[in-house]
Amino acid sequence: MSNTILEVIDLKTYYIEKNRVVKAVDGVSFSINEEETFGLVGESGCGKSATCRSLIGLVHKPGEIVNGCINYKGTDLLKISPKELEKIRGSEMGMIFQEPMTALNPVLKIKEQIMESFKDKALSKQQKYEKAIELLRLVGIPSPEKRMESFPHQFSGGMRQRVMIAIALASKPRLLLADEPTTALDVTIQDQIIKLLNDLKRELKMSMILVTHDLGVAAQMCDRMAVMYAGNIMEITDAVTLFGSPRHPYTIGLLNSLAVNKEKGGKLQPINGAPPDLSNMPEGCPFAPRCQYCEPLCEKQLPDLQEIEPGHLSRCRCVEKLANIKGIIEPAGKEEPS
Ligand SMILES: Nc1ncnc2c1ncn2[C@@H]1O[C@H](COP(=O)(O)OP(=O)(O)OP(=O)(O)O)[C@@H](O)[C@H]1O
Ligand code: SF4
Ligand SMILES: [Mg+2]
Repeated sequence: MSNTILEVIDLKTYYIEKNRVVKAVDGVSFSINEEETFGLVGESGCGKSATCRSLIGLVHKPGEIVNGCINYKGTDLLKISPKELEKIRGSEMGMIFQEPMTALNPVLKIKEQIMESFKDKALSKQQKYEKAIELLRLVGIPSPEKRMESFPHQFSGGMRQRVMIAIALASKPRLLLADEPTTALDVTIQDQIIKLLNDLKRELKMSMILVTHDLGVAAQMCDRMAVMYAGNIMEITDAVTLFGSPRHPYTIGLLNSLAVNKEKGGKLQPINGAPPDLSNMPEGCPFAPRCQYCEPLCEKQLPDLQEIEPGHLSRCRCVEKLANIKGIIEPAGKEEPS
């Protein structure tokens, strides 16, 4: 039985504005095991980044965590002092932010940005300098001594992403939060970053939360996955089951909209309609207006996230109608250690 490193229960993070409340995360629950890669997937705006920011304590006004429990190795991060939280954040968790260009300071050399991410006060400036070079080497930046003197704009997109990964690894995190680490990179560079993250995760024995809207990337990296929709989790299971036997209409819709499904003889079908406004959520299932299986009760009551098979959870009241939907696509499969 795997050890749970993080358990999130009924997390709610809202952006409370003057005239509206945006329910970015609205009752999210999941857990992550040691050395596991857990994927958070879903369309733009469904609350993936807000979930990650909540976990690492980086929700800023008008955002607020209004409910929930974030249990990290037995400590509820929402119940400890800001100082204690800072300590755990600085030593146990690292985050790769979604936009490397905005997350890096354009007027500071790379060496300063990496060196300032070492929180250990016992380290001398020289030790930090040497460790920064070590990290740049670890993430595959050639001539790291020279590149320490560069500014962010002097790096290519892929190299900037490697710098972001180096900064996230500075605290030797047990849990790495990677928010869209491959978005905005071309396919070849994307593959290199996926391989780098998979290798680092194995080497450093980390757990990882991978946020992506790209199911192909998720298939190459994740052990288990959660599908998010409108601030909520709709389905959780292992990656092979999710791709082979999805049990939520939204997951099925996502898989049907993938080009790879068409290549395998399936029909390419985009999901019609748009996600709901998170500041004006419908009473019942948020997917109801787009769902071909919708029943009258769906529009009145939000179903619970229920375990339908061991380890497979779905938030759909009509899950039995989906029982025969199998093997929409085969997962690409995680690559083997090199
Ligand atoms: N600072 C903010 N103020 C108000 N609303 C916000 C703020 N930040 C995020 N939101 C809203 O919260 C919701 C969830 O945003 P989030 O960034 O978590 O989405 P996401 O799933 O990461 O999307 P993407 O795939 O585009 O990165 C969105 O509706 C977004 O508009
Ligand atoms: S609960 Fe109803 S509307 Fe929601 S996904 Fe299931 S069948 Fe569709
Ligand atoms: Mg995001």
